[in-house]
Amino acid sequence: MDTTVYVPTDRTGAQPDRDRTTPDVPAARARTLSKVYGAGGSAVRALDAVDVDFAAGAFTAIMGPSGSGKSTLMHLLAGLDTATSGSAYLGTTETTRLGDAELTRLRRDRIGFVFQSFNLLPMFTAEQNILLPLELAGSRVDAEVREWFDTLVTTLGLGGRLTHRPAELSGGQQQRVAIARALIARPEVVFADEPTGNLDSRAGAEVLSFLRRSVRELGRTVIMVTHDPTAAAYADRVVLLADGRIAGDIVDPTPESVLAGLDALRSLEAPVQGTPQRDGVTR
Ligand SMILES: Nc1ncnc2c1ncn2[C@@H]1O[C@H](COP(=O)(O)OP(=O)(O)O)[C@@H](O)[C@H]1O
Ligand SMILES: [Mg+2]
Repeated sequence: MDTTVYVPTDRTGAQPDRDRTTPDVPAARARTLSKVYGAGGSAVRALDAVDVDFAAGAFTAIMGPSGSGKSTLMHLLAGLDTATSGSAYLGTTETTRLGDAELTRLRRDRIGFVFQSFNLLPMFTAEQNILLPLELAGSRVDAEVREWFDTLVTTLGLGGRLTHRPAELSGGQQQRVAIARALIARPEVVFADEPTGNLDSRAGAEVLSFLRRSVRELGRTVIMVTHDPTAAAYADRVVLLADGRIAGDIVDPTPESVLAGLDALRSLEAPVQGTPQRDGVTR
């Protein structure tokens, strides 16, 4: 049983909310979250005291140069790796305090994953791949689940492909199956790490608009790691990372504002906190 609670820091006297999530609790959060790989002279500080909130019901992209800590941040938020110090939260649960068995259950029951390499099971059909998380959780496929399955399949345009195996599907179709699989158990958060990295630009655009629709029309929460400004512009917000630190925050991004934000990172010696600039980038 999860006993960790989220105490709002901006409202003094607020009661901690013990047993349920509230709409004002972010879907995921990091607090002075750090990750150091290795030790001594070869130690790499992949994340350096990161503080960031990810709103529920939003599509947020995490961007930054290669090696800036994007995947590390995602892995810590998703309970796929352990922190060196600081805290990560999924809703009201402090994931950095959970043991292996609890983390396995949390990933199975509360998180959906989309990877660059699709990770579908080759001997299963598209339908079997989509339903796999329910199978693993021992959930029954009742009428409500069927209806959600049909919604996902229709939204993702997979209707005619359900009996196909992954090898009989294009890359874009495989990734759409992977998205349906990530959404089938209605997880609190879907984490996507470079979901368009193996797709051509047209298939990539399809996958990105489906991720956006899953947030806008189906009410889901998506956190996506990408190094592609065009991909990031599909999100509601872009969090910029540089050298393991939060280096910027762009609301309602466009490819242009994301590129401007990345350019600003390159011209900065060290990221500093500041006010939003005219281009919408906080530096
Ligand atoms: N398992 C690991 N062992 C050692 N160093 C790692 C490991 N994973 C990542 N790193 C290092 O941590 C830093 C951040 O990596 P990563 O989070 O993968 O960045 P990004 O996803 O932004 O490219 C990089 O310097 C990378 O080399
Ligand atoms: Mg990465």
